[in-house]
Amino acid sequence: MSQSEGDSRKSDSRKSVTMRRLQEMSRTGEKIAMLTCYDAAFAQILDEAGIDVLLVGDSLGMVVQGHPTTVAVSMEDMEYHTRCVARGNRRAWIIADMPFGSYHESVEQAIRNAARLMQAGAHMVKLEGGGWTASTVLALVERGIPVCAHLGFTPQSVHALGGYRIQGRDESAANAIRQHADELVGAGAGMLVLELMPAALARELTGSLPIPVIGIGAGVGCSGQVLVLHDMLGLTRGKLPRFVRNFAEPGFNAHTAVGLYVSEVKSGRFPDDTLHGY
Ligand code: KIV
Repeated sequence: MSQSEGDSRKSDSRKSVTMRRLQEMSRTGEKIAMLTCYDAAFAQILDEAGIDVLLVGDSLGMVVQGHPTTVAVSMEDMEYHTRCVARGNRRAWIIADMPFGSYHESVEQAIRNAARLMQAGAHMVKLEGGGWTASTVLALVERGIPVCAHLGFTPQSVHALGGYRIQGRDESAANAIRQHADELVGAGAGMLVLELMPAALARELTGSLPIPVIGIGAGVGCSGQVLVLHDMLGLTRGKLPRFVRNFAEPGFNAHTAVGLYVSEVKSGRFPDDTLHGY
């Protein structure tokens, strides 16, 4: 870091993003811009570009570690990357994913592992799945650990779901998602990620739930949007989901691209409601 960068970071007077601020944004319709982040360098770039929420996603298993799915990611991996991100961040809200197997055995196991992520620098933990996670969410929230839930396509269950498929397409699947969302909100979840589902269902849930709802491949009607950083910067090789947009046009650097993403999400020009699926 240069001397002037160090000085400007010390005098950075922008307010930290809090849960209260995110709730206010979702209440007033100010869109929430969220991206995944796995290291200190990008945490600093994203934070300075105005990102509201940094997600230390277990997608790092795919885009950083080169695994075919997120299933291989360990608690140690998540702690390490959460520490890196926390060091680079100044004001964004940090969410860390609880990896596959870290909350599946018991509520006690989930409490122990969530505490490790909070001590590594997370402000909130995220876990995937419906009703079976509600008792875990309740226990974490009771112990002062904010929780973000994740419904629709849940990548840790990719094998059980039969691949990267849109969820909640028929009425009974949509009803199951509605019921799970109500249970998770009832258990105290403070935020919800909806992945790969019909835009109408995500819009309906966003309108009816009292918490910020962040979409990925779920249409523009959510309180905010999240993308995988490497996908939106054009750094991911191979086939990308159709809803991803490359914000790093030729000549753009990462700073410019993230700034553009923030303004497109905030103005509702991203995502395109007609593009879903892979
Ligand atoms: O791990 C991740 O990147 C995620 C997003 C897809 C929401 O959970």
